[in-house]
Amino acid sequence: MSTPVTGCRLAELTGLPLLSTTTTCPAPQAAYRRLREGWGQVVPVDLDPGIPAWLVMGYREIRAVVRDELHFSRDSTHWRLLQEGRISPDSGLLPIMAPRDNAYFSDGAKHRRLRAPLVDALAGLSEQHMARLIRATCDRLIDRLPADGPIDLVAPYAAQVPMLTVAGLFGIPTDLGERLQACVIALFGSGGDAQALFAEMEAILTGIISAHRAAPAADLTTAFLDHPNHRDDAEVLASMLLTLGAGWETTQVWIAQTLRIMLTDSRFAAQVRGGHLGIDDALDHVLWTDPPMANQLTRWATSDTVLAGQHIARGDALILGLAAANADPWAGAQDRIDTGNRAHLAFGIGLHACPAQRASRLIARTAVETILHRLPDARLDIPAAEVPLHPSPWTRGPAHLLVTATRTRN
Ligand code: HEM
Repeated sequence: MSTPVTGCRLAELTGLPLLSTTTTCPAPQAAYRRLREGWGQVVPVDLDPGIPAWLVMGYREIRAVVRDELHFSRDSTHWRLLQEGRISPDSGLLPIMAPRDNAYFSDGAKHRRLRAPLVDALAGLSEQHMARLIRATCDRLIDRLPADGPIDLVAPYAAQVPMLTVAGLFGIPTDLGERLQACVIALFGSGGDAQALFAEMEAILTGIISAHRAAPAADLTTAFLDHPNHRDDAEVLASMLLTLGAGWETTQVWIAQTLRIMLTDSRFAAQVRGGHLGIDDALDHVLWTDPPMANQLTRWATSDTVLAGQHIARGDALILGLAAANADPWAGAQDRIDTGNRAHLAFGIGLHACPAQRASRLIARTAVETILHRLPDARLDIPAAEVPLHPSPWTRGPAHLLVTATRTRN
């Protein structure tokens, strides 16, 4: 792979680099550099062995793809390998790539119709209400951390805060929010009991919809139910599942990566303590250097085309390499604390760009602030270089952050 290869067809390639090597290797920037040297800005990769896709690594190429939904669709019914029956029914790719009837997997007028309720409902959330809910959730989770011995800041904290707060924004009671959280973790983890877990999530949310029909409230569920663009309760349910699913892993990785930087990079710890950097600056730095969705799903080519010299065939899958694009030499250098600059691609851009940027920033900022406030002397128990990574082809974040800390009272 050391010689540039352009003009190749995905279907003819074998022995491609696995996409997950970019999220699990110790030095992703070096990996991106090698891939760029070998293939250019659009790189053939395997999602799973024998399941090829294109990784779009160029900042400009990603912008071009997301702005052209006619040729690069969000609708996974275009996926040729799926049409040809080459994706095994128990493939771990299906839960996140199989077609679903929601904004995420739609194009054109249908996308705009189904996206509007998400944008409108999220915009209608009061900052004070969100802040109170998030802070209470963070405090409750910290109160539950073990009093003695090492504390993991990922599974019992960073991974819990986003789902429990977004559930709270839907007016879902805490016990059911915790059940939804358990279902989502199991869904993404194993796959064996995926259908039963998915049915349980649907049943919980259907109950919430009925309760809100009977007694409307000032929350996301009622905003979804009242939105004229939702044609029936099935669409409301699909929008709820999408919102809960899209916010979970992204925000948890953002929180965990920011905590990791605070714990391992003395520049950050000292400058935040001294007031030279705000938490938002640290959050922004992570969005540049370690964007939560390192590799964003997916666009499908609707016709044969050429992108950065590569011949893309109709039905090929294209993964948006957001982390790679942030490090694109064309887009600027990486090795600096980049305060105030939000031109990164971490939230995507264009028609499908994340509609929850304000809410997720408030969740991540509050989660990090609360740790700094409640565990002020937290120290990592292992050397920075040994922090284990969560295995995923899409996100790159710590699997654990074991710290020793004295917990202060709320
Ligand atoms: C409360 C938390 C969050 C919620 C509810 C949420 C929700 C969503 C939804 C519903 C979409 C699909 C929009 C569409 O297809 O039109 C989306 C897209 C996306 N979100 Fe978020 N999100 C959250 C947090 C985050 C975070 C923290 C990140 C990363 C920093 C992120 C990155 C993205 C990206 C990259 C896309 C797709 C862009 C594309 O494919 O072009 N999201 N989000």
